[in-house]
Amino acid sequence: MASVVELAPSILSANFAELGAEAKAALAGGGTVLHLDVMDGHFVPNITIGPPVVASLRKSIPDATFDCHLMIENPDEFIPAFAESGANWISVHQEACVHLDRTLHLIESHGCKAGVVINPATPVHTLDDVLEIVHHVLVMSVNPGFGAQHFIPNSLKKVESLARIRDSRGLEFRIEIDGGVALDTVGDIVRAGAEILVAGNAVFAHGDIRENAQALLRAARSASSFSSPSRLRRTSAQVPRTPKADRRRRQT
Ligand code: DX5
Ligand code: ZN
Repeated sequence: MASVVELAPSILSANFAELGAEAKAALAGGGTVLHLDVMDGHFVPNITIGPPVVASLRKSIPDATFDCHLMIENPDEFIPAFAESGANWISVHQEACVHLDRTLHLIESHGCKAGVVINPATPVHTLDDVLEIVHHVLVMSVNPGFGAQHFIPNSLKKVESLARIRDSRGLEFRIEIDGGVALDTVGDIVRAGAEILVAGNAVFAHGDIRENAQALLRAARSASSFSSPSRLRRTSAQVPRTPKADRRRRQT
C-alpha cells in the first residue's frame, strides 16, 4: 500500500507546443495522474482541448492515468469521445448536469471512473445522493477557467467535510483538489484530507518541471506523514478500468 497523496499535474499551464515532453517530465517528477482540463467557452470563459489532443497524448504516454476534467455544458454528448480517446477518469461539474446520476453512470458505462466536481460556491451537501457512486470528488479551490489563480481557503472546509462524510458513511470515494495548489498551500490542503493534488502553475510555469513536481510531492507527503493507516490506500496507477461486465450492469 502506498501513501494516499498523489500529484496530478495539470497540463493547462504547460507549453502546448511541447505538450508530450512536458507531461512526461511532470510524470517523471512523481505525478501519477495526468490532469486534462477541457473547457468549452460556455460553462467557463476559456477554451482548451478536446478528444484529439487526449488521443495524441495517449499515444505518446500509454501508461499514465488520464483524468479528464470536463468544464463543459452538455457533458453527456462528449463523454463517449473522451473515453474513446483514452481517458481513465472523467469528472463532470455538478453545476453543469441536469441529470447528474445518469451522467455518472454514463461515464462508468464507457469504462471510466466517474468523478463529480463542485465549484467554490457549491455546497458539499449537493453531492449527498451521488457520493456512493463516484470514484472521486473534485473540489475546485479556484473558480474554474484559468490557471495560476489564488487558492480559496474555504475549500479546506469542504475537503474536511467530505472526509468526515466519507468516514461516517463508510464510503470509498477519493478527494481531489484543483486550483492554487503550490508549496505554500499544499500543507494545509493535505492536512485537511485532500489526496489527489492537481497542480498546473506550480509544476509547469517556471523552472524545471520534473524538480517542481518532486518538490511539491515532497512537501505534500511530509504534511501527510501523520496520516492514520485507514487513510492509506493504493495509488491510481493500480486502479483498473471498470470491467466490461460491470459496465453493462451499471448502464442506465
Ligand atoms: C482551472 C483548472 C485547473 C488549473 C489549476 O479551471 O481546472 O486544473 O490548471 O491550475 P493552477 O494549479 O495553476 O491553479
Ligand atoms: Zn482541472
